[in-house]
Amino acid sequence: MTTPTDPTRPYRVSCAPGLAPWLAAELEQLDLPVLSKDHTGVATKGTMIDGMRMLLHLRTAYHVLQRFADIKATDPDMLYAETTRLPWERVIPIDGYLSVISAVNTPSVNNSMFPNVRVKDAIVDRLQTVHGKRPDSGPKADRTVVHLYWKDDQATLSLDFSGRKLTDRGYRQLPGKAPMRESIAAALLMEAEYDGSSPLVVPMCGSGTIAIEAALLATGRAPGLLRSAYGIQHLATYDADVWRTQRYEAKRLAKKTTPAPIIATDNDEAMVEAARKNAVTAGVDHLIEFDVCDFADTEIPDATGTLIVHGEYGQRLGDIDELQSTYKRVGDFMKKQCPGWKGFVFTSRELAGTVGLKPAQRVPFEHAGVDCRLLRFNLYSGTERTNAVTNPTTSS
Ligand SMILES: C[S@@+](CC[C@H](N)C(=O)[O-])C[C@H]1O[C@@H](n2cnc3c(N)ncnc32)[C@H](O)[C@@H]1O
Repeated sequence: MTTPTDPTRPYRVSCAPGLAPWLAAELEQLDLPVLSKDHTGVATKGTMIDGMRMLLHLRTAYHVLQRFADIKATDPDMLYAETTRLPWERVIPIDGYLSVISAVNTPSVNNSMFPNVRVKDAIVDRLQTVHGKRPDSGPKADRTVVHLYWKDDQATLSLDFSGRKLTDRGYRQLPGKAPMRESIAAALLMEAEYDGSSPLVVPMCGSGTIAIEAALLATGRAPGLLRSAYGIQHLATYDADVWRTQRYEAKRLAKKTTPAPIIATDNDEAMVEAARKNAVTAGVDHLIEFDVCDFADTEIPDATGTLIVHGEYGQRLGDIDELQSTYKRVGDFMKKQCPGWKGFVFTSRELAGTVGLKPAQRVPFEHAGVDCRLLRFNLYSGTERTNAVTNPTTSS
């Protein structure tokens, strides 16, 4: 929707490395165009209201960045001079607190903090000239956040509508041993085509991220409703009434139906307790059945559904040899206990070959700096067919 007071502007939405395809699909679902995409984000365009919708609805995004200006800068002095010329007084409240974050890849800079300081100085000096007063500034990116993207001699200055990363939904008060990022869990569920219409089983649930994201997805709850603080609220152009309306609209879109059972188990009692508390914080504890048990003792419902295992990788937890035999057991468990189910195993590339079944698909993901794979297994009943599947999307 475009109005004279809410014109269309360019946005870049950033994400974890490799998540752009799922982010692009989410933007299209919001009826926003995908202008281009790369490894860490998607370019789109929309109004201020669209920016608010992105904050509330996107599950796989990090930051929603509304482009403020493109400038040419060959060195930090030019960056400072060009930044001072921009009308920051239109967007930055004088009584606020400003921080600058950046992604810089330009030959004249080897200390990435330096451009942040130059941009911050330029904005603050501009506001001092216009208002005779300067806003507070510092490193805490929790109020007005300006984002600098500087590559070669081209710099883009954007207003960070999100502030903190959107993937930090706020429900994971107890993170557990090796938690999965919320945005990756959401992408994984989208890749599994999970919609809540059939059961979901998550053995090795850890802090519960996959089960909680599934409950949010299945009920159409906008993840952004879980948070109340956003960068956009610290812009001079922020309209609290419009934001309230968008939040109300997002709440209205949530489904009233209860999804099929979501079962989450872990053999560590403390983890299950953490997952349960995190689910309470997310407001979805009533939708998830928790249990403490070895993954192989997880009760599988009669109706077929989706099973997702996020095992340990060895880098942070677990010893590789022991993990190899655990993944082999996971393969045996899926084959024997889950006929007719869609089985997914998310693990490191190194351990991906140890499940002992032939995956139909191997989707690459990067998680916590580890090269990972989401393996998909179509689990036929043993005697009828093998687990080999036609037309696999393979990648090493
Ligand atoms: C990588 S973590 C899962 C993290 C989870 N996705 C999250 O977001 O917090 C792996 C989990 O598997 C559990 N685990 C390891 N071996 C297990 C077993 N044999 N049976 C059940 N759970 C097990 C661990 O306690 C740990 O919580």
